[in-house]
Amino acid sequence: MSAEVAPPSRIEATHHESVLVYRSFRYLKLAALTCLLAALAYVIHDPQPMPNGGTWLGYILGTLSLGIILFLAWFGIRKRQYGPSSSRLADWLSAHVYLGLSLIVLATLHTGFQLGWNVHTLAYGLMLLVILSGAFGVYTYIRYPQLMTENRRGMGLLQLMGQIAQLDREMRRLGLPLSEAVNKALLSAANETRIGGNFWQQLRGYDPHCATTRARLLMTHLAEHEAGNSAAMRQLLGLLTRKEALLGRARRDVQLAALLKAWLFVHVPLTFALLAALFAHVFSVFFYW
Ligand code: HEM
Ligand code: HEM
Repeated sequence: MSAEVAPPSRIEATHHESVLVYRSFRYLKLAALTCLLAALAYVIHDPQPMPNGGTWLGYILGTLSLGIILFLAWFGIRKRQYGPSSSRLADWLSAHVYLGLSLIVLATLHTGFQLGWNVHTLAYGLMLLVILSGAFGVYTYIRYPQLMTENRRGMGLLQLMGQIAQLDREMRRLGLPLSEAVNKALLSAANETRIGGNFWQQLRGYDPHCATTRARLLMTHLAEHEAGNSAAMRQLLGLLTRKEALLGRARRDVQLAALLKAWLFVHVPLTFALLAALFAHVFSVFFYW
């Protein structure tokens, strides 16, 4: 059996839960206050003919939003400098989450709700997608480790693998007096069954060409049609079914670990696209000024 298992997420999940309540919601309060002040200023100021990104408040909110976005994008680099266990990192991540969410209010007020099919709205849309993927990331960090614990039922992945290997040995021994076809199937079930693989195979969570499933199907067929060996065959069938159940749990574990990282493949590239669109936005508004 071969197993290529995903490495654990860089920041542990329980850590993320504490990140949300970091220092009694310090950053949530800061972000909420900023949004409140921005909304108040938006209501008070009365630009003609209508609010938009080019008023004094529009410029303040645009610059503030851009500043926050650059700060959040910088987070990737800071994160690697601090290392995963640092409390400075929790500080940064907590600020990241709440300031990121505050952009929904700040950038929207900046636009004065003047959205259309242009590069400005492209930047705005990309920003919303980055925020959405970030929120999904926080959700997975909080929810999936619990699903992993439930799926493992008190066993570590290595223990699961140990039980699977033990079943393989038992089956090889039971199969010795049986036909060559049975022994061949058991050998390939032991040697060719895969857990994990490349990232897509990890995400899929099952193997459509699983050698153990193939062996089980063969054994089912033989148990039904070869009366002479049916007792041994049924015993093998029972063990193969147990192995399949364990494989299902091991693959689910790898799948959840992969899902814990998958959202970053949306969050990070979209961040770069957002920065490019913002550059185009700011350049174009000054160019046509
Ligand atoms: C330094 C930062 C920024 C500056 C100087 C700036 C400047 C402006 C200006 C002058 C306008 C008015 C354009 C017009 O009426 O033709 C505008 C509109 C707009 N801005 Fe910004 N902006 C900044 C940051 C942002 C950010 C961070 C976003 C969103 C992620 C954004 C999205 C928009 C959108 C969607 C509009 C409305 C476009 C329209 O009227 O069709 N801006 N901005
Ligand atoms: C426009 C706003 C945002 C930008 C530009 C941004 C950008 C980034 C970048 C560059 C990273 C580093 C990723 C890496 O290199 O591994 C990151 C990580 C992260 N972001 Fe955002 N982000 C934004 C908003 C958000 C929001 C609103 C949330 C949550 C609601 C969020 C949640 C996270 C989390 C949890 C991580 C840490 C992932 C990890 O290290 O395991 N982000 N973000």
